[in-house]
Formats: sequence, structure tokens, C-alpha cells
Amino acid sequence: MSLFPRYWAVVPAAGIGSRMQSECPKQYLNLLGTPVLVHTVATLLSHTAITQVIVAVSPEDEHWMDTALAEHPRVHFVTGGSTRAASVLAALSSLEERADEHDFVLVHDAARPCLTLHDVNKLMTEVRQHPVGGILGCPVRDTMKRTRGSDIEATVEREELWHALTPQMFRLGLLRNSLLDALGAEVGVTDEASAVEWAGFRPLMVTGRSDNLKITEPLDLPLAEFYLQQQLAQGLRLPLLVEEQD
Ligand code: CTP
Ligand code: MG
Repeated sequence: MSLFPRYWAVVPAAGIGSRMQSECPKQYLNLLGTPVLVHTVATLLSHTAITQVIVAVSPEDEHWMDTALAEHPRVHFVTGGSTRAASVLAALSSLEERADEHDFVLVHDAARPCLTLHDVNKLMTEVRQHPVGGILGCPVRDTMKRTRGSDIEATVEREELWHALTPQMFRLGLLRNSLLDALGAEVGVTDEASAVEWAGFRPLMVTGRSDNLKITEPLDLPLAEFYLQQQLAQGLRLPLLVEEQD
């Protein structure tokens, strides 16, 4: 094992954004004058410990080459797959030659542009000491119910429930093997942690900011704009610098 594991970021960006019902995939929608994906990757690039950001884009992608990221020296892109997990695996495969299996990988959704550098640091600090890995999450706020049909069956203990956010940080070898095994067994994998849990491990939950929303439905876009503006005003985010770096 290397004494100083490196950090890599993987950004699955090969989805079509069907719930967003927009003309172009949601990762390319305009957010304060810049595509969502550029905001997302810029935060990861602003962390100097991250060696490279690997972005998985769709084989039908028509927008990637027009972004400021395409020529960036610390950004690499690969062709994604038909599911999020397949896109993540494609990015991990591209690391096989260059990275050590004990290096850390932070997987972060393209559709989460409001991630702060502070939360990236918090995740790295808390998870690098953990034997399994961990994720950002935030506690649910509302009283939670389980239904059967449209009838309420039970009230679910809120204290135990979290929203799973990203980034999710694991050692490269453990993550790749867990994803491959889970997909091989045809287990539903909606995030990295679920594959690692399925493999029998217990990742760490790290409390993150609730403004790290995933743009999913039309109302989320103005909300993300508001959160970014608030973060800029509070000095939690610097103006975008991606263009100047190459
Ligand atoms: N993603 C991916 N490859 C896929 C599907 C999804 O890389 N085959 C990415 C998306 O681009 C997104 C992230 O995974 O950044 C989270 O997925 P989600 O929010 O579900 O995005 P979409 O699948 O694009 O949206 P929808 O489910 O509404 O179609
Ligand atoms: Mg999806």
C-alpha cells in the first residue's frame, strides 16, 4: 500500500434527466450563466488534493466538447453506461492503469452543483481514517410514514433515517469490486454505498449540508441558483475559475 494514497474524483454525467423534462440533459442546463456540470466539476478541481476528475458522459452527448472542461489538464472523460453504476464503473476502469487500489475515489453526481469545498474537506478528513469509506448525508426533517397503497401503514423512526448525498468516498479496489459483485448479482445499486453495504461492509455517514441538492425536477433549478448565490454571498464559494486554468 502506498504511504500517501491519492484522491480521484469520478463524476457520473451520462444520464438523460427524464424527470427534469428539459430540452437538454439537466447537467448542461444553464445555472447563473454556466452549465450545471461546470459548477460541479469546478468545486472538485478547486481541491488541490484531487489528482484528476474523471467525467463519464453519454455516447450520445452533444455538449461536453463545448464546455470549458473538455480541454482542462486535470479533467479526463470516458464514455458512460446505461445505468449510473455502469457509468461509475467505466470511470473506475480508466483508473486501473494509473491509480493504486488503495487510492481514494470520491464519486459525485453531476447534478449536484451546490457542493461546497468545506463539505469535500469534511468528508475527506472523517473518511480517510475509516476502514470502509463513507458518504455525505443529511438527516430527514419530516415525520416519515410507510404506506401500503394510499393508506398509512406505520410511522418510521426518523432518528435512523438519512438522505444519502454525494460525494461518496471509498478506496478504489473496494469500490470497484463491490460494484462489480453487486451488478453481477443484479442487485439494484443507486449509489456507491449500497454496493459496499451489499458486500457486507458498514460505511460511515458524515453529516453534510442540506443545500447539496440533486437537480431532479424543474423546481430544483431555481433553488440551486438561490443556494449558489447564498454561498457566494457568504464566502462559502468562490466565483468560477475553470476557464483560466488551462
Ligand atoms: N447518470 C450516469 N449514467 C446513467 C444514469 C445517470 O452517469 N446511465 C448520472 C446522471 O447524469 C446524474 C447522476 O448519475 O448526474 C444521478 O442520476 P439521476 O439524478 O437519476 O440523473 P438522470 O438519470 O439523468 O435523471 P432521471 O433519473 O430523471 O432520468
Ligand atoms: Mg436516473
